[in-house]
Amino acid sequence: MLTECCRGLYMMVSAPVVALTRVQPWIVLLVEFLKAPIMRLLTAFRAAPLLAACVVAKANYPAIPEDTTTPVQQRLAIYGPNSISIGWNTYARQDEPCVEYGTSSDNLDQRTCASVASTTYPTSRTYENVVILTDLAAGTTYYYKIVSTNSTVDHFLSPRTPGDGTPFNINAVIDLGVYGEDGFTIQGDKTKKDTIPTIDPALNHTTIGRLANTVDDYELIIHPGDFAYADDWFLSLDNLLDGENAYQAILENFYTQLAPISGRKPYMASPGNHEAACEELPYTTGLCPDGQKNFTDFMHRFGQTMPSGFASVSTNDSAKVLANQARELAQPPFWYSFEYGMAHIVMINTETDFEDAPDGQGGSAHLNGGPFGTANQQLDFLKADLASVDRAVTPWVIVAGHRPWYTSGTACTPCQDAFEDLLYTYGVDLGVFGHEHNAERFLPVYNSVADANGMNDPKAPMYIVAGGAGNIEGLSSISTQLDFSEYANDEDYSYSTIRFLNRTHLQVDFIGSVTGDILDSSTLYKSHDVRAGLGISPPWPFSLNAVDPDAGCHRAAKALTPGSAIGIQPSSASSSLELTSENPTEYGDSESMVYCLSPAIQAKWLLPRIQDPDLQLEMLLA
Ligand SMILES: *[C@@H]1O[C@H](CO)[C@@H](O)[C@H](O)[C@H]1NC(C)=O
Ligand SMILES: *[C@@H]1O[C@H](CO)[C@@H](O)[C@H](O)[C@H]1NC(C)=O
Ligand SMILES: *[C@@H]1O[C@H](CO)[C@@H](O)[C@H](O)[C@H]1NC(C)=O
Ligand SMILES: *[C@@H]1O[C@H](CO)[C@@H](O)[C@H](O)[C@H]1NC(C)=O
Ligand SMILES: *[C@@H]1O[C@H](CO)[C@@H](O)[C@H](O)[C@H]1NC(C)=O
Repeated sequence: MLTECCRGLYMMVSAPVVALTRVQPWIVLLVEFLKAPIMRLLTAFRAAPLLAACVVAKANYPAIPEDTTTPVQQRLAIYGPNSISIGWNTYARQDEPCVEYGTSSDNLDQRTCASVASTTYPTSRTYENVVILTDLAAGTTYYYKIVSTNSTVDHFLSPRTPGDGTPFNINAVIDLGVYGEDGFTIQGDKTKKDTIPTIDPALNHTTIGRLANTVDDYELIIHPGDFAYADDWFLSLDNLLDGENAYQAILENFYTQLAPISGRKPYMASPGNHEAACEELPYTTGLCPDGQKNFTDFMHRFGQTMPSGFASVSTNDSAKVLANQARELAQPPFWYSFEYGMAHIVMINTETDFEDAPDGQGGSAHLNGGPFGTANQQLDFLKADLASVDRAVTPWVIVAGHRPWYTSGTACTPCQDAFEDLLYTYGVDLGVFGHEHNAERFLPVYNSVADANGMNDPKAPMYIVAGGAGNIEGLSSISTQLDFSEYANDEDYSYSTIRFLNRTHLQVDFIGSVTGDILDSSTLYKSHDVRAGLGISPPWPFSLNAVDPDAGCHRAAKALTPGSAIGIQPSSASSSLELTSENPTEYGDSESMVYCLSPAIQAKWLLPRIQDPDLQLEMLLA
C-alpha cells in the first residue's frame, strides 16, 4: 500500500517529464543522469510513515457481477485452419472452463472444456479462461455459449480455409484505448472527453461503436498493439494515489467494452509499447508491482489464445518444412502467423526481441521488457514463415506490427533495420502499423525509395499507419509528409478496412470512425505471378460466369512459368490435366488440392495451350 502511494506521488512529479520526453528526446538523457538521485528519493519516500495516510482507493472499477461465473472480456482468435480459441475472464477461478457450441442457436450439441483451470496474476481481480474449439467446418456460422449460470449465446464465423478465394474484409485497429473516465479524449481538450464509462454499442463512441455497428461487414480484426492504455492511468488526476488499481480498472473496462466485438469476431493481437509496464516512464519499471511489468497482462490474456502458425498445405516439401520451422519458432502472442482464405498474415513484435528493440533490455524506451525468445528467434521465425508461403494457396501476404518505420512522424529505425529487408525479399504485399496516432498511406517503398511501379504490381511492400483509433492521448499531428506518403489524416478518428477482392486486387480503405465514411481508398494490384495459378477462386464448383475469360487467360499466360502452380482436380491431374468443376469438398485443406506441375509437364502440355487463346479458353471452360 505504501509503495503504491509513493508511486502516485512519484507520478505527480514525473508526469510532466513523461510528456516532455515525448517531444524532447534529450529529456531521456537527463532522466538517465538523474536516475540515481530519483531512486534515492523514492527510497526515502518509502520510509516516510506519514505517507501511509494517503492511500485512498479511487479506481473506476466496473462492478463485479454477483454471479462470479459470469463471462466477461470475451475474445476469439483464429487458432488453426479449423480451429477457434475462445478466451474470457471471470471474477472467480473456474475449475473447468467449458464452451457449448453448434451450428444452430437452439441446438448447441457439442461441448469442449479446457484441460486446465483458469489462471490469474498478481494485482488482477479476474481469472483468464481458454477453450480451443477444433474440427470446425470452414467458413460456417457457429453458435456458442460459455458455460456459466449467467451467460448468453453468441456466434462466430469459423475460419475460411487457406486457399479459399472468396472475397472478404478485415479491419486493422491500432492504438485503441478505453472510453470513459480514464480514457478517450481529444488531445488537450478535456471538455470533449467522453465520460460514458461503459459502451452501449447502440451509441456512437467513434471506433468501438463503429466496429459494433458494422460487425457484419468484416470477418476479423488485427490489432497490433496498444490496447486500453492502462499505463496512462496517471493522466487522470484522481488516479494518482491509487495507480495499481487504476491500471487494472482500465484494463477491465477496456476489455469489457471490446467484448461485443471480440466475442463475435476473431481479434488478433500483438504487443505495443503500452502493454509493456505500469507506466511508460523511462527507468521506472522497477517500481511497478509484480503483474504490471514485462507485458504481463498481455501475455496472460492472449498467450493461450493466439495461434503459432499453420501447417503448410502446399505440395512443395520445402514450404512444408519451413512452415513447421516457423511454427516451432513462433512465440504467441508476441510473434506468430495465421492463414485465412487468400491471406497469410504475420503478426510481429516491434517492442522486444531484436537488436536495439525499443522496449527491450537496454532499448531506447528504457522499459526493460522481454526477451520472450532466444537470441534471433523472432527474426528466424519471420524468415522461415515468409519463405514458407505458397502464393498459389495464399497469394496475399500481410505483416502487421506496432511501430512503423514509414511514417511522417517518428520512425522506428531499429525496426526498419531488423525487418524491412525480410519484408522486401519475400515480397510482402502490405505492412500494417500504428503507434503514430493518425492515418497514413504510403506508396510501395523499399529503403525509403518508392517502387517505380507504384500500385501497379510493385515489388516493394505497400505500408500503412492505422493508429487513429482513439485513446486518452488523442491524435498526433503530421507537419510535413514524406514524399511517398499518399494520404495523411491527423484530424479524424479512423481505422483501416482491408478488402481481399481476389487473388490480384487488394483494396485498402481508411474509415472515419465518427461518420463511417471512407476517407481514403486505394487498390493494390499484384500479379503474384510466380505461383499465382489460374485465378479461379475456390470453393468449387466455381461459376465460370464469374471469371472474365480474357483476364483469366492473360493472368494464366503470365503465371504459368516453370514452377508455378495451378488449382486442378486431383483425379484429373495425372491423366488429362483438365480443370473440372466437380466439387472437391475442402480446397486447400489437404495436400491434394493444389498441384504444382513439373516443368516437363508444363512444357509439354500446358505452355502450348497457353499460347493458343482458344485452347486456353477451352481449358478454362472444360
Ligand atoms: C449476468 O450477466 C449480466 C451481463 O453480463 C450482468 O449484467 C449481470 O449483473 C449478471 N448477473 C449476475 C447475477 O451476476
Ligand atoms: C450515430 O451517428 C449516426 C451517423 O452519424 C447518426 O445518424 C445517429 O443519430 C447517431 N446515433 C446516436 C445515438 O447518436
Ligand atoms: C519477461 O518475461 C519473459 C517471459 O516470461 C522472461 O523470459 C524475461 O526474462 C522477463 N523479463 C524481465 C525483465 O523480467
Ligand atoms: C479482381 O478484382 C478487380 C477489382 O475489382 C477486378 O478489376 C478484376 O477483374 C478481378 N479479377 C478477377 C479474376 O475477378
Ligand atoms: C518450393 O518452396 C521453396 C521455398 O518456399 C521455393 O524456394 C521453391 O521455389 C518452391 N519450388 C517450387 C517448384 O515452387
